[in-house]
Amino acid sequence: MMQAGANVSDVDAAIVDPTTYADEERYHALMTQLRRDDPLHLCTPPGFRPFRVVTRHADIRRVELDSRTFINYPRMNLQPLEMEERVMAATGGRRYTARHLVVMDAPEHQHYRGLTQRWFLGKQLRPLEDRIRDLAREAIDDMAARGGSCDFVEDVALWFPLRVILMTLGLGRDDERFLMKITQEIFGPDDPDNRRSTSPDARFETIAEFSRWCDALTAARRAAPTDDVASVIANARDPDGQPIAAIDAMSYYLIIATAGHDTTSSSASAGLLELIRHPDELHKLRADPALIPNAIDEIIRWASPVKHFFRTAAADTEVAGVAIAEGEHLMMAYPSANRDDAVFEDPFAFRVDRRNAREHVAFGYGPHVCLGQHLAKMELRILFEELLARFDRFELAGEPAWTQSSFVSGLKRLPIRFS
Ligand code: HEM
Repeated sequence: MMQAGANVSDVDAAIVDPTTYADEERYHALMTQLRRDDPLHLCTPPGFRPFRVVTRHADIRRVELDSRTFINYPRMNLQPLEMEERVMAATGGRRYTARHLVVMDAPEHQHYRGLTQRWFLGKQLRPLEDRIRDLAREAIDDMAARGGSCDFVEDVALWFPLRVILMTLGLGRDDERFLMKITQEIFGPDDPDNRRSTSPDARFETIAEFSRWCDALTAARRAAPTDDVASVIANARDPDGQPIAAIDAMSYYLIIATAGHDTTSSSASAGLLELIRHPDELHKLRADPALIPNAIDEIIRWASPVKHFFRTAAADTEVAGVAIAEGEHLMMAYPSANRDDAVFEDPFAFRVDRRNAREHVAFGYGPHVCLGQHLAKMELRILFEELLARFDRFELAGEPAWTQSSFVSGLKRLPIRFS
């Protein structure tokens, strides 16, 4: 139970308030208090269906590993009740606008994940290393051409992961502005800088626009398959052996394009900011570049760009001694678990040589663990290798700013000087 100076309704209001997530200190103070006093806090904010916030590392792992008891459908992420009702009305009773891996459960989930899993495994990705390095060098050439200062988010971090994703989907530069816009509209419906419009139908307009683009992509890859992920998806079969339905293909492109882009760019920006804030850690990396892969895990632990996903109890059960009734919803607070001192010594210290940085749960855990984790780590490793090789000095040139979103969020401005 909540104690020590916390007014429960203030806590609940803060958890659903997008601005909390744009203020790292405020967010982490709240989560630290919950981990200590009420690790499965029951949140009942007005205008939302109630849910519990799972804040400890061990509890998130336990819930996500037991995917029979804790299922992904029907609640994926935090939405006001009014929006949930709109989605149901617009989709004939479904609770989602796109039918992708994150809203599926076994056995369907295994089938659809299996379609592309081999493509995203570490050793399959090795042949992409040179192409990804070319993209990183190009991003850094553009940065250098800016003459010593830039907004690292706008000018570098947003574009490089998007281009990697375009490459995996076999798409060219013509599509990059379109996909950037779609991702920002989907992840930033509450952020004044990123949303499509304030219309309650903005999300449906975004999905409709994206669906038209996807149908053309599927038709092209069916007519002339290549070796990219889009061809795998376009020519896939559903569990009954029929060609994949248009909504399933669209949803698959969507999850890869969106999940693979903002998350990685947020991690890149957060990583550079922490290296600027901690010159001693930057020095360690320069002295021993073999530390970079470990530093990438520490950066991802630190950034935790996915703020939550939900699970729903399919049966009466318990977590850490707290009874959970069938139908209760659980919010997995990944950034909180990644500051849990039961796992990470001195969790608020950023250490590129942290011994167990890899134990973070920023990629989730269990059967739904991030499909693109090896790709994400590879592209971040290459980006930092190239950044450190090219520039001697980085410093802040203004105030960083974070996006206002309780779902996927991170830096939206990082003004820097470099030489
Ligand atoms: C640092 C970058 C990234 C982070 C922090 C991240 C984080 C996550 C998280 C937390 C989940 C949910 C896992 C769970 O429910 O247990 C997830 C799922 C997923 N991610 Fe990532 N992700 C990243 C990059 C990528 C990339 C580059 C791709 C590109 C393919 C990608 C594709 C996916 C997909 C397809 C899923 C759904 C998996 C499933 O439900 O089976 N992600 N990611």
